[in-house]
Amino acid sequence: MKLYNQGATPASVTSPVSFAGLIEKIEILRSTLRWASRLDRPEIEKLLKQATTLRDEVMGLSHKERFVQAASSAEAAAGSAGESAPPQQEVERMPRERRQALMERSFIFEGTFGDNPRLLEALEIAEKAAPTDLPVLIDGESGTGKELMAKVIHANGSRTDKPFISVNCGAIPDSLLESELFGHKKGAFTGASNDRRGKFESAHTGTIFLDEIGELPLTGQVKLLRVLEAHEIQRVGSDEIISVDARIVAATNKDLRKMSEAGTFREDLFYRLSVIHVSLPALRERHDEIPLLVSYFSDEAASMLKRAPVRLTPRLRDFLLHYDYPGNIRELRNLMYRLSCLAGDTADLAQLPQDIRPRPAALAVVGSMGSAGADIAMPASLSEAKRAASDEAERAFLERGLQEVGGTVAELARRCDMNRSHLQMLLKKHGIHSKDFRASRQADGSKG
Ligand SMILES: Nc1ncnc2c1ncn2[C@@H]1O[C@H](COP(=O)(O)OP(=O)(O)O)[C@@H](O)[C@H]1O
Ligand SMILES: [Mg+2]
Repeated sequence: MKLYNQGATPASVTSPVSFAGLIEKIEILRSTLRWASRLDRPEIEKLLKQATTLRDEVMGLSHKERFVQAASSAEAAAGSAGESAPPQQEVERMPRERRQALMERSFIFEGTFGDNPRLLEALEIAEKAAPTDLPVLIDGESGTGKELMAKVIHANGSRTDKPFISVNCGAIPDSLLESELFGHKKGAFTGASNDRRGKFESAHTGTIFLDEIGELPLTGQVKLLRVLEAHEIQRVGSDEIISVDARIVAATNKDLRKMSEAGTFREDLFYRLSVIHVSLPALRERHDEIPLLVSYFSDEAASMLKRAPVRLTPRLRDFLLHYDYPGNIRELRNLMYRLSCLAGDTADLAQLPQDIRPRPAALAVVGSMGSAGADIAMPASLSEAKRAASDEAERAFLERGLQEVGGTVAELARRCDMNRSHLQMLLKKHGIHSKDFRASRQADGSKG
């Protein structure tokens, strides 16, 4: 597959060579030069420098291709000005068409995606990278879908029926890193009671996903670089050289370029890993995808929990659409599972985790000021504001009470020294179902 778009190729580059082929040749040249023994060192250095320049130029082409794409979608988004800008209708259709085109090309994606231009760009890059064996670096905040994207790249390539091995580089203690990645020989160190193969060997012919690559200590980086260059490994404590053919996809939530400038990440490894670079936007930068994700996860949770998809009150829906999601898609997914588990037919703000739940009184009083309460009108008078606040305080009191007694109305009535039927009436007034709190207690219990 040719990675660059012929139409966008500068006139000076007319060769139909693919990125994959070109970069591979350069890399062969670089390693040959690096290990050559019959040239004088100054000559080797000079040639190495030239090769590095050449590689950077090739990577520049890739950037240019992305720039052209980004510019055309930015143009589409900006829409109005300029002679070359497409008409408004065209502008609106473009992302939809890009999305449609991906689906028509049978692009496999195990999730959902809408028309967000930045996400579409990431998916298009992944689609082009998938059939090559080029290393891919995926960056984005935690929970933006990096691992999912790595699986998508694997699934759309020729290694799809081969292993996909995931390694969290941040979760392995330094002392075990080498053995985890490359395996060990029996007796190599205390506790090595058997021969063991490492993740690279397990990923042979398939894909190895190196998550949180920015956490890899410098010693590990050197070893990884060697594998990338030679496609060979040695188990700890063994002299035997084993060839491995694993496609590398790495992910990070750090800025590796900055890290390499600061000397904490090897620059040569960074270039090796980031031949193709995919950036996933934070969820707050693709708010337009939220409605789709809400219904996707609500269906997913419903089928897992064997229930009907949960309905959302307008104010909860409004909250979900405007919330910032520091934990990105993972947080949204967890929220939808939580709501589906805790709520009866319909979920409301009460079923949100305490730490993100908008304060009810504040919400009612300043309803029209905050986005989360945008569906609630500003009270017309002070007395109405007071009444609304008191209502909300009553509601919050009842919900907290029910939470504490695990949804047993009789127990709450006893604790508050209230008439049970009066309490029932108040619950009814607020549309609170005691059974929702029984579920809540079970769910909280099952977590620990
Ligand atoms: N576009 C999407 N559609 C559906 N689910 C998604 C999407 N993106 C991410 N997810 C889900 O969100 C969760 C977090 O994604 P993950 O790939 O683990 O993120 P990261 O590796 O960046 O922390 C996973 O459950 C993943 O399946
Ligand atoms: Mg992850």
